[in-house]
Amino acid sequence: MTEASACGKIILFGEHAVVYGRPALAVPLAHLRAHARVESRAAPGSIIHARDVGREIWVDTRDTDDPLAVITRLTLKKLGVRANLELTVASEIPIASGLGSGAAISTALVRALAAHFQTALAPAEISALVYETEKLYHGTPSGIDNTVIAYEQAIRFQRVAAEPGSVAIRSATPTISAFQIERPFTLAIANTGIASPTKITVGDVRRGWEHDAARYESIFDAIALIVQQAQTALARGENETLAALMTRNQRALETLGVSSREIEILLEAGLRAGARGGKLSGGGRGGNVIFYIEPEDAPQVQRALSEAGAVSVIVTTIGT
Ligand code: PMV
Repeated sequence: MTEASACGKIILFGEHAVVYGRPALAVPLAHLRAHARVESRAAPGSIIHARDVGREIWVDTRDTDDPLAVITRLTLKKLGVRANLELTVASEIPIASGLGSGAAISTALVRALAAHFQTALAPAEISALVYETEKLYHGTPSGIDNTVIAYEQAIRFQRVAAEPGSVAIRSATPTISAFQIERPFTLAIANTGIASPTKITVGDVRRGWEHDAARYESIFDAIALIVQQAQTALARGENETLAALMTRNQRALETLGVSSREIEILLEAGLRAGARGGKLSGGGRGGNVIFYIEPEDAPQVQRALSEAGAVSVIVTTIGT
């Protein structure tokens, strides 16, 4: 029997614009993890038990398009093995909430399978495999989730369009670099409890962009500038600047139409309780809202967010 895990992730700055070739910054959430276990099976066929969602998925036949079946088949192919396996996945990461649960479960599965067959896979190889299933969850993913989770480090991610004016995600290789966090900082992550598929918000932004490319491109440029300023502030340890940059990034996301009443209720409550700045994180319309907080404000911010309807609030230190 072999086991492996993978972290969750949070996008600090730059979601949506990243699909159009602008940079984004994301960090791993090391304490929030997905787990996978692989055992050999005597009977024919391989099956995945996903008890969190009450599902049993057959790898080879019936559930052929299921992302977990797909990642298992792709990994076995990559490893060059055929086997009858009993796979079990479990996750501490809330699904469809912008914390990378899909990519984390897939990454844990790839790692457990590689370990089971005693093969070392590099983060880039794992990321490429997981990207294939991200397409099934997301439609046209930028690749940021699989990257930050497979590398398990703070990542600046950018996909530059092959041709000017083309959608960046269609171009081949992303530019991935680690970014420096000079001074750790505290985030409160509040879950709206609304599962909002990224595919839908990404699709809506696409339609908006198709309708008025110039306006959307200028919003993406404004977000790119925020990302650049945030990266500089993080490298210099000028953490106070991050809060205002988050709030500016949120305003830009609102103009893209991916915020929601529920997100804004949480933002208002968190800021009133002492959070210094905040924004939605990930696809938007639901999922999670992140707040830059001073550690001593955590209890009151946490309480205010729960009272305002957050189904969970995680307080975590980034950059340690
Ligand atoms: O919802 P999440 O956390 O998986 O993030 C989606 C991020 C987007 O920029 C909206 C889409 C993407 O593929 O990068």
